[in-house]
Amino acid sequence: MKVDERKVARWITDVVVRRPAAWRLVRGRMRDIFERVAPTWNTRIGPHHLGALSLALEGVPVPARVLDVGTGTGVAAAALADRYPSAGVVGVDISPAMLVEAELRGSRARFEVGDASRLAYADASFDLVVLMNAIPFFDELARVTAPGGHLVVSFSRGAETPIYVADGRLRSELGRRGFGDFAAYAADPATALRARRL
Ligand SMILES: C[S@@+](CC[C@H](N)C(=O)[O-])C[C@H]1O[C@@H](n2cnc3c(N)ncnc32)[C@H](O)[C@@H]1O
Repeated sequence: MKVDERKVARWITDVVVRRPAAWRLVRGRMRDIFERVAPTWNTRIGPHHLGALSLALEGVPVPARVLDVGTGTGVAAAALADRYPSAGVVGVDISPAMLVEAELRGSRARFEVGDASRLAYADASFDLVVLMNAIPFFDELARVTAPGGHLVVSFSRGAETPIYVADGRLRSELGRRGFGDFAAYAADPATALRARRL
């Protein structure tokens, strides 16, 4: 992602978190950016990427159904499929080009094209939902997470991540939608917030 694209991604994130209805106006621009960077996305994924997510998953009961929203090239979905061999793991992304790269991983996770603002899954479909470096659509995250299930939101470069939402904002938006038991994790530079759907 070029510098100006990183700025666009941060700006779009800020706007959409405040006004989710604005997503339909910027959706095409965002998808185009990720379609373009898909073939080289894996070069941005280093050892730092999953550190905070892994910490946040410690103590989470073994899930049966797992969703990775904005899965990109599927790095988190593949790690989740390895971590929970008995779970069904789905990675969803708006960019078909990203999912082409995800399929090349050879993971047993299943990958599907979809929009996080309108997920094609029934209410309470997942015991564990993960969102890494992607814009949170809080209503949908709450809808598809089963009561008692967990959500982990992680940013692989903390506040320097182009798509980033501050911890306080995450807690207030999720708290209003029935999440609690918040716990924050850091594995420099990555951060993660874990929440449980009460
Ligand atoms: C910064 S990348 C992160 C990819 C992956 N989670 C990772 O950490 O490597 C953001 C991903 O979210 C996807 N995305 C953006 N908006 C989305 C939406 N509304 N629904 C589904 N995927 C979306 C993009 O196509 C892109 O693959």
